[in-house]
Amino acid sequence: MNSPVPGLSSRAAEFVRRTHGLFIGGAFVPAADGRTFPTYDPSTGAHLADAPYAGPADVDAAVAAARSALDGPWGALPALGRSRLLVRLAELLEEHAAELAEIEALDGGKPVAMNEAMDLPAAIEHFRYYAGWPTKIEGETIPVHLPDTLCYTRKEPVGVCAQIIPWNYPLMMAAWKLAPALAAGCTVVLKPAEQTPLSALRLAELVREAGFPPGTVNVLTGDGETGRALVRHEGVAKIAFTGSTQVGREIAAGAGERLQRVTLELGGKSPNIVLADADIDAAVEGAFSGIYFNSGQTCIAASRLYVHRSRYEEVVGRLAGAAQKAEVGPALDRATRFGPLVSAEQYERVRGYLLGGLAAGATLRAGEVPPAAPDGGFFVRPALFTDVTPGMRIVREEIFGPVLVAAPFDDVEEAVALANDTPYGLAAGVWTRSLGQAHTLAARLRAGMVYLNSWASGDPGAPFGGVKASGIGREMGRANLDAYLETKTVWTSLAF
Ligand code: NAI
Ligand code: MG
Repeated sequence: MNSPVPGLSSRAAEFVRRTHGLFIGGAFVPAADGRTFPTYDPSTGAHLADAPYAGPADVDAAVAAARSALDGPWGALPALGRSRLLVRLAELLEEHAAELAEIEALDGGKPVAMNEAMDLPAAIEHFRYYAGWPTKIEGETIPVHLPDTLCYTRKEPVGVCAQIIPWNYPLMMAAWKLAPALAAGCTVVLKPAEQTPLSALRLAELVREAGFPPGTVNVLTGDGETGRALVRHEGVAKIAFTGSTQVGREIAAGAGERLQRVTLELGGKSPNIVLADADIDAAVEGAFSGIYFNSGQTCIAASRLYVHRSRYEEVVGRLAGAAQKAEVGPALDRATRFGPLVSAEQYERVRGYLLGGLAAGATLRAGEVPPAAPDGGFFVRPALFTDVTPGMRIVREEIFGPVLVAAPFDDVEEAVALANDTPYGLAAGVWTRSLGQAHTLAARLRAGMVYLNSWASGDPGAPFGGVKASGIGREMGRANLDAYLETKTVWTSLAF
C-alpha cells in the first residue's frame, strides 16, 4: 500500500486512513449525529484524517456502557483477572510500538524517535506497573473498642471515571489515566484532545483485542464541548484531567457542585536553579533538555532558569549556542530531535509570547520570531530570553513552547524567592555539588516535584503532580491508585 505520507509504514498508514469510530461498549460507532472533525499533521499543516465528534448523546451512551460494565462482567472479574488484562494490554502495546510511535508522530508532531525511546516504553511500563496492583488492594481490620464487634474496611472502585487528556503526550497520558483506574476496578470514558485523537483510537482497538469486557474502556473523540458534557454527566463519579489551569478551574468548580472526586494535573512555570558550585556541563545539558524537550510542550518544562551571577554568562552563553545550533524538522524523520508545535493555534500563541517578550524589553539571545503564517509545518526554533524582569508575562505565564527565560541571582535567598514567585508549583530543579544546599532547597521550593542535579526523571511508582495552580492530587504510584478507590467501613456484631 502506498503511504499518504513519506516515511510512514503501511500499518500506520492503513490505520490513519480508516473511517474512525467512537469506542462505546466495545464497538466502534459513528457519532450519533454523524459529526466529524479534522485532525492535521503538524509537520506539514496538511489534513490527516477525520475523527468522530462526540456530542451529548454519545456521552450518555458511553457513560451508560461504562456503568453496565461496572455492574456486570468487569465488576465481577476477580483482581487477578484485571491484572492479567493489564499485562495483556502492555504486551499488545509493545507488539505495536513502532506503529503507535508513527501515529503519534503524525498526529501530534512529536519526533518518532522520541516516541519510540520514551513515550511508548513509558506507556507500556505504566500498564505493567499498575498490573501488579489489583491483587494488593487490601482493606484493614480495625481494633475497635466495642466488644464482640468485627470492624473492617473494603477498598472499592469509585465508579465510572471521566478522563480528559491533552495533546502533548497523547498515548502516555492515556496510559497514566487508564492504568490506575482499571487496576482499581473502575470503568472509564476517556477523551483525548481534539488535536491528537488518533493514538487513543488505536489504543482502543488494542483494549478490545486484549479482551477487556465491552464498556470497561470507552473512548470519545471531540473537543472541549465534548469534555464539558462528559464531566457534567451525573453518571460520572470521578474526573481525572490533565490540561490548562483555566479548564482545570472550571472542572474543579463543577465537580465541587456535584461532589465528584477530582484530580487535576495542570500547567507550570517551573524554576531551575544553578548554584555557583554546580557541575556546569551537567547543568547546561539539564537546562537545555529541561526546556526544549518536546519543543517545550511539557507541563514540567524547566521554563525559568536562575543562575548564580558568577556563572551566569557562562551558562547562558553555552545554552544560547546550543539553542542556535538545534535543528527543527518533521516528526517522521528519524533524525529529528525538535519537531513542530502541535497546532496553528499553539504556533500563534508562542509567537505572541516571543513578540511580547521583545516588546517588554527582553533580549532574545537565541531563536527568532517565526513568520506570521507558518510555511507548512508549525515550527518554532528554540529561543532564549535574557534581561527579563519578574513582572514580564514571559516570566509569569506558561508559554508551552521552546522558550526559556534566564536571570541571574546573587544569593540563595534571592534564588528561592524568585523560584517561588509564581502562581504555579509543578516542578523545580537545583544544580549544586553541596548535598546540604540541595536538600535544604528541596524542602524550601514550593513544587510537587524537585529534581536535584537532574530534570524530569520519572517512574510509574513515583508520585507526580503539583501544588497551587498546578493541580490537585498525584498521578503514578500508590497515590494515584488511591484516587480511584473509596473506603467502605463494615461493622459486624459478633453477638449472634
Ligand atoms: P485545554 O485545557 O483546553 O485542553 C486539554 C483537554 O481538555 C483537551 O482534551 C480538551 O478538549 C479538554 N477541554 C477543553 N475545555 C474543556 C472543558 N471546558 N471541559 C472539559 N474538557 C475540556 O488546553 P489547550 O487549549 O489544548 O492548551 C492551552 C494551554 O494549556 C497550553 O498552551 C498549555 O499552557 C496548557 N496545557 C497544559 C498541559 C499540561 O500538560 N499540563 C497540556 C496541554 C495544555
Ligand atoms: Mg483549548
